[in-house]
Amino acid sequence: MANSEKASVGKFSGNELKYITEYLEHENPNKDPRSWTQRLEESFRNYMGVKHAITCNSGTSGLHMALAAAGVGPGDEVISPALTVVMDAYAILHRGAVPVFADVDLLTYNILPEDVERKITKKTKAIIVVSLEGLSVHMNPIMKLAEKYNLIVIEDTAQSLLAKYHGKYTGTIGHIGVYSFENKKHMTSGSEGGMVVTNDERLAIRARKFGGIGYKHMSADAGRTSLALSSVQDPDYERFDTIGLNYRMSEACAAIGLGQFERIEKIIERRQESAQLFSDAIDGCGWMVQQYVPEGYVNSYYTFAVDYKGEDNIGVSWKEFYASYVEMGGDGFYSACVIPYLEPALRDKEINGKKLSDSKCTVAEGLQKRIMQFKTNYRDMDIAKRKAEVLKKLLCRLDMPK
Ligand SMILES: Cc1ncc(COP(=O)(O)O)c(C=O)c1O
Repeated sequence: MANSEKASVGKFSGNELKYITEYLEHENPNKDPRSWTQRLEESFRNYMGVKHAITCNSGTSGLHMALAAAGVGPGDEVISPALTVVMDAYAILHRGAVPVFADVDLLTYNILPEDVERKITKKTKAIIVVSLEGLSVHMNPIMKLAEKYNLIVIEDTAQSLLAKYHGKYTGTIGHIGVYSFENKKHMTSGSEGGMVVTNDERLAIRARKFGGIGYKHMSADAGRTSLALSSVQDPDYERFDTIGLNYRMSEACAAIGLGQFERIEKIIERRQESAQLFSDAIDGCGWMVQQYVPEGYVNSYYTFAVDYKGEDNIGVSWKEFYASYVEMGGDGFYSACVIPYLEPALRDKEINGKKLSDSKCTVAEGLQKRIMQFKTNYRDMDIAKRKAEVLKKLLCRLDMPK
C-alpha cells in the first residue's frame, strides 16, 4: 500500500469545481467539442482498457441496462450471490426474470462458482457476480461456466473500482461490467451515477439504447449526435427503434465525475492505506478475521471488512462491540446488508409457487450477521490512524489473546 503525500485532502479537491463551473457557464476554454459525458466515457474506457463505456445515472440503472443488453426477459433465470445489496435482484425482477441465489465463499464473501453450477438450469440466461467490499470475484471458473452453458456474465463492480484479478480490472473480465458513482463509492459524479463497460459492441449498443430511451441513432460510443435540423424538424422523422428508459447521466454529474476520475489512483491509495491501518490494528486477533485476499488479487477496499467471531469466542455480541468502539471514539461501522431474499421487499414474493425467502444460502446468512465493515474513505490519514488505534485499544481491553 502506497503512502499518500498529504495527511488531509478534500473530497472534491481536483478539477471538479472548475469543470462544473465551465459546464454551468458554457465555457469551453479548450474548445473541446465533446460533451462532458463523452469526456468521462472516453477517459474511463481508455484507463480501464475496454472498448465501450456508457455513463448512466446509478449502479442500479446500470444493472438494469446490462440485463436488458444481455437479452434477459420474462421467465429467464439469473443467478446472483446471496450476499449483496437488493438492487441486483430488483434489476432482475424488473426484467420479468427470476433471481436465483447462490451461496458465497466463507473467506472472500464472494459468489461460489461450485454453487453457481449447482443452480444452473435450462432457463438460466445470465450470472451477476458481485465483487464485494473491493475484492474481485474468482472470475476464471465463472467464465468457464459461462462458456460451458452459454451464459452472459454481468460483473457488479459497484464496490470494486480499480480492484484487480490477476492483472485485470474488475468489471472488464465478464461480458459486461457495472460501476456505481453513488456518494459513498470510491468516486462519485455528485451524489449518484454509474458506468457500464463492455468489449462487445452489440451489448454496448443495446445497453446505451435501453438507458437512452431507445433513440435509433445511438451507437456503442455516441449517446447524443447532432443531426441537421432539417431532418429532425420533420413530421415524418422517426426517432425511436428500441423500448427504453431514461437512465442517462446529466452533463453536470459527468463534469464532477471526470474531475474525480482524474485522481482515482490517489483516492484508492487512501482507501488501501486506511485498510492497512485497520489490518495492523487487528493483527493477531483470532476472532476478527479479515476478508481474505487471495494471491494475484488487488483489493481496492471499499470497506475494510472482517468476520467478527467475538460472540462465540469472548461472549461480546456484534452490537455490544459496536457500542464500545463508538463510545471509545471509533467511527460507526456498517454490517453487511440483509440477505436480499430476507428483506421485506422480497421475502414474501412468490415465483412459480416458491417464495424467494425459501432460498437457503447458509454461509451467506451466517456471514451477514457477523461482518463488520469499517470505513476506509478517510481523507485525513491522522484521523484514520486515531480510529485504528481506538480499535486496537478496544481489542486489548477485551483481552485479546496474544
Ligand atoms: C454491490 C452493489 N451493487 C449495486 C449497487 C447500486 O448502486 P447505486 O446505489 O449507484 O444504484 C450498490 C450500491 O450500494 C452496491 O453496493
